[in-house]
This record gives sequence, C-alpha cells and structure tokens, in this order.
Amino acid sequence: MTHLLAPGSRLILASHNKGKLREIRGLLQPWAIDVVSAGELNLPEPDETEDSFIGNARLKALAAATATGLPALADDSGFCAGALSGAPGITSARWAGPEKDFRMAMQRVHTESASSPDRSAWFISALCLAWPDGHTETFEGRVDGVQIWPPRGEHGFGYDPMFLPSGASETYGEMDQEQKHATSHRARAFALLTAACFK
Ligand code: IMP
Repeated sequence: MTHLLAPGSRLILASHNKGKLREIRGLLQPWAIDVVSAGELNLPEPDETEDSFIGNARLKALAAATATGLPALADDSGFCAGALSGAPGITSARWAGPEKDFRMAMQRVHTESASSPDRSAWFISALCLAWPDGHTETFEGRVDGVQIWPPRGEHGFGYDPMFLPSGASETYGEMDQEQKHATSHRARAFALLTAACFK
C-alpha cells in the first residue's frame, strides 16, 4: 500500500473535538481530500493512555484506521504553562472536566501559576497519519507565547483566550481562524505532514 494521500482520497479525522475538527477541515480544504470524522461514523474515543502527545496521536489514529480500513489522521495537542513545568500539557482536555468547562480550566492555570513570575506558555500539536496496515507518520508543531489574564476573545476553542503568541497583540481567542493558522502549532505540524504525505 502506498503511504501518500492523493487528491480525492478518503481520510478519517480521528477526533470528536469540534474546535479541532473545524481547524483541521480548514487546513485540509486546499487538498481536495474527502474528510469524514470519527464522530460521523460513531467510532468510539480510545482512552489516551500514552504519556506523550505523539504517543496519544498515534494511538488515536491507529484505532480509527484499524476500525475503518481507511487512512486516519489524529491530533493530540495541549496548552503548556512554563510556571507549571508544562502542565496541563497532555492533560489539557481533562482539566476542563466532563462538562468541558474551559473557563474553569483557564482559571485553574491562572490560579496555580499565580505565585510564579514565569508567564511563558506554548501550544503543541502532534499529528499522526495512520494507515490500516499499521504504518504511521508523525509530526509535531509548536507555538510560543505568554499566558495572559483575564482571557480575551470568543474565537477558537479551549485555552485560546488566555494565549498571546509571541509578537502578537491579539490572543488566539481574538483572532479569526485564518489569522490563527498563520502561526499556530497545528498549522505548523500540518505543513510538515502535507509536505511529507500528500501528493
Ligand atoms: P486532546 O488532544 O483531545 O487530548 O485535547 C487537547 C486539548 O488541548 C483541547 O481540548 C484543548 O483544550 C487544548 N488545545 C489543543 N489545541 C488547542 C488550540 O489550538 N487552542 C486552544 N486549546 C487547544
């Protein structure tokens, strides 16, 4: 089996996160790929049992590729605060609890890092493209900036309103999708992925 995706190929997006799906669909748009999400196929969400972004992205992509017999793309990503030694990191989604309350998760980052002068923050996106034969390709993107308080903006998702990328005057929560893609961790990982795996 060839491990390149040609225009018109069907690709499973192994995510149930609406914010990520919106961004990845936007990034895939120029490539004429036939995208179906794991949610549309009622695929279960595997537990994220690995201790790295790449490990969890691989686990999710392989589960979807094996279940469907089609290539699958997964993103494992997170917000990292320097004051918290990189937390919440791979547990970013879990900090929002079952209600997916990101106001609460952002408040926790703010409260727990208040005693540190370190405002550095970064996002990581690990992408894994997996094929049904078990072949995987992984790529990682990162964007650096600072955490700010109070959060600003209603765009994006997750921790976007409290992240100010280096050199910018607007948070990711204040930027539209196109502006965010100009610097984002996900767009950077995606550029590596398309260069390596898309015909
Ligand atoms: P997971 O990759 O499904 O474990 O979830 C990653 C979590 O990290 C998301 O639920 C968001 O809270 C956070 N996250 C990842 N990427 C972004 C982003 O681009 N903006 C804001 N939050 C993000």
